[in-house]
Amino acid sequence: MRLTLVFILSLNILSQTIILKPKSYLDVETGELITADIEIKNGVITKIGNNLSNNNAEIISLKDKVLLPGLIDTHVHLIGNNQLNGYESLSESSYLATLYGVLNAKKTLLAGFTTVRNVGAANYADVALKTAINRGIVLGPRMYVSGPPLGITGGHCDNNLLPHESSVPNQGIVDSPWEARKKVRTNRKFGADLIKFCATGGVMSKNTDVNAKQFTFEEMKAIVDEAHNNGMKVAAHAHGLEGIKAALNAGVDSIEHASFIDEETILLAIENNAYLSMDIYVSDYILGEGVKKGVLEESLNKERVVGKTQRQNFKKAVKLGANITFGTDAGIFDHGDNGKQFVYMVEWGMSPLEAVQAATINAAKLIGDESIGRILIGNKADFIGLDQNPLNSINILEEVPFVMKEGKIVKSE
Ligand code: ARG
Repeated sequence: MRLTLVFILSLNILSQTIILKPKSYLDVETGELITADIEIKNGVITKIGNNLSNNNAEIISLKDKVLLPGLIDTHVHLIGNNQLNGYESLSESSYLATLYGVLNAKKTLLAGFTTVRNVGAANYADVALKTAINRGIVLGPRMYVSGPPLGITGGHCDNNLLPHESSVPNQGIVDSPWEARKKVRTNRKFGADLIKFCATGGVMSKNTDVNAKQFTFEEMKAIVDEAHNNGMKVAAHAHGLEGIKAALNAGVDSIEHASFIDEETILLAIENNAYLSMDIYVSDYILGEGVKKGVLEESLNKERVVGKTQRQNFKKAVKLGANITFGTDAGIFDHGDNGKQFVYMVEWGMSPLEAVQAATINAAKLIGDESIGRILIGNKADFIGLDQNPLNSINILEEVPFVMKEGKIVKSE
């Protein structure tokens, strides 16, 4: 009994200091590979330097690995069984959706994504999942969550599948500036970190037009004002140009999708220091798997136009120097496949370094947590380890062999 206690105590002391000895690490700011060891105490990077040693430290040799900061995806939907589409999605209880969230969180973390922004979930299931992860009950990425997304009656953030007599509006539906303010306050009260709202129609929703603006400018202003007043960031789902412009003028922090953005509006986003979160992989999944997976015909038709245009506009945004974050919409496609988007970002105009920066430095800035996204003393010990420099072959980010979150190894070959 006593022996066990001594053993546990000493393990505890040992586990507090770790020294990682990688082949090198990638400075994601400059793109340089740096040869150094990294000391970690209580989940935080405490030293970076050559030949670090410490008698009490646990030494972890990663001599064939290049380390990067843990990856960040700023647009995921962890809650729910992602195999359910269209009318089938109505059959899932919130309880079951949350349990799928547990599975999805694990898949995401094991794919190297140590932080995510979850943009939209009913019943604050995202808050529950985040809490369980923070308490160590469930294995998953650090989560920043929005709770129910705000939207107008009949809009993309509503549920338009059922006839009037059996239809219940989604939880974030508001139809005036004051209703919007109240919903922001309610979401904050129940644990949301950020606010998501729908500024246009969408692809996956029934009977919405991707080009139609949703919410008046006054409503958008009210949402942003109330959220910013509470220190919360605002993410606006917007495909069509009018909705994108209105959301930017209302002061949002990010435009999700940004499919029909034009050059003038890209410049407006830059001027406002707003981020573009363009999910340019998902289109191939929707068009490739959609029929089999029960995606509505209406959605497939919209996607045929949206996907192509979005990629062309992504290229323009890159050229003009927009702030671009890495947001994938995982949940439409399988969780854990988030890394597939890197290749697309490079194919559509980014350098490999820019693509890595989108999922590290830029994503951290958008979230407002600069203790992640870079390997620096004082930052969280979130790492992925790769067999090669990803700047030479970006596709290796699709299969990450080593993952550490806050000083704990969660995956190792
Ligand atoms: N959640 C988005 C929507 O339904 C997905 C858009 C996917 N398509 C795309 N090309 N990014 O509108």
